[in-house]
Amino acid sequence: MTSPYVLTVNGTDRTVEDAWLGESLLYVLRERLGLPGSKAGCEQGECGSCSVELDGELVCSCLVLSASAVGTRIVTVEGLQPERGEFTDVQQAFVDEGAVKCGFCTPGLIMAVHDLLDRRPEPSDLEVREAISGNLCRCTGYGRVFAAVEAAVAIRRAGSGVEATT
Ligand code: FES
Ligand code: FES
Repeated sequence: MTSPYVLTVNGTDRTVEDAWLGESLLYVLRERLGLPGSKAGCEQGECGSCSVELDGELVCSCLVLSASAVGTRIVTVEGLQPERGEFTDVQQAFVDEGAVKCGFCTPGLIMAVHDLLDRRPEPSDLEVREAISGNLCRCTGYGRVFAAVEAAVAIRRAGSGVEATT
C-alpha cells in the first residue's frame, strides 16, 4: 500500500486510496475511480484502447504508473463530453458512419481522433492513418473509421465556416 495521492482527472481532483505503487493509470482509472471508458485490451501498449491525454499528450494509460501522473492533467474519454449524455462531434461522426461495432476500440480511437483534429483540423489521408496506427480494431475494418474521421472534419469545418481546401 502507498499513501493516498491525488490525480486531476477531467478537471476534478480525485483521491486514490489503498493503492499499490505499481498500479497502472488504466487500472486506477477503471477500478478505483469508476471511469471504465478507457478499455483494457492488451495492457502492453499495443492496442490503443486505453488511450488518455496526459497534459495534452496522448498516452497509453496501461503503460503509465498511476502515481507518476500526480500533478498532471488527465483527460479520459468521459471528459470529452461537453455535457453529460451529449456526444462530441467526433463521437457523433463515429455513430453516423457506422464505425462502432463491439465498441471496444472506440474510446481509444475517439481520443486519437480528437487529438489529431485538435492539432490538424484538415489532416491528410496519411496523417489520419498515422494518427490511428496505434489503435487496433478487430470489428469494423478501418473503412468506416476513415469515413467517420472525414465526417468529423466536415462537422468542424461547417462549424468554423472554413471552406474545404481540396
Ligand atoms: Fe493499453 Fe492496449 S490496453 S495499449
Ligand atoms: Fe470492435 Fe473496434 S469496434 S474492436
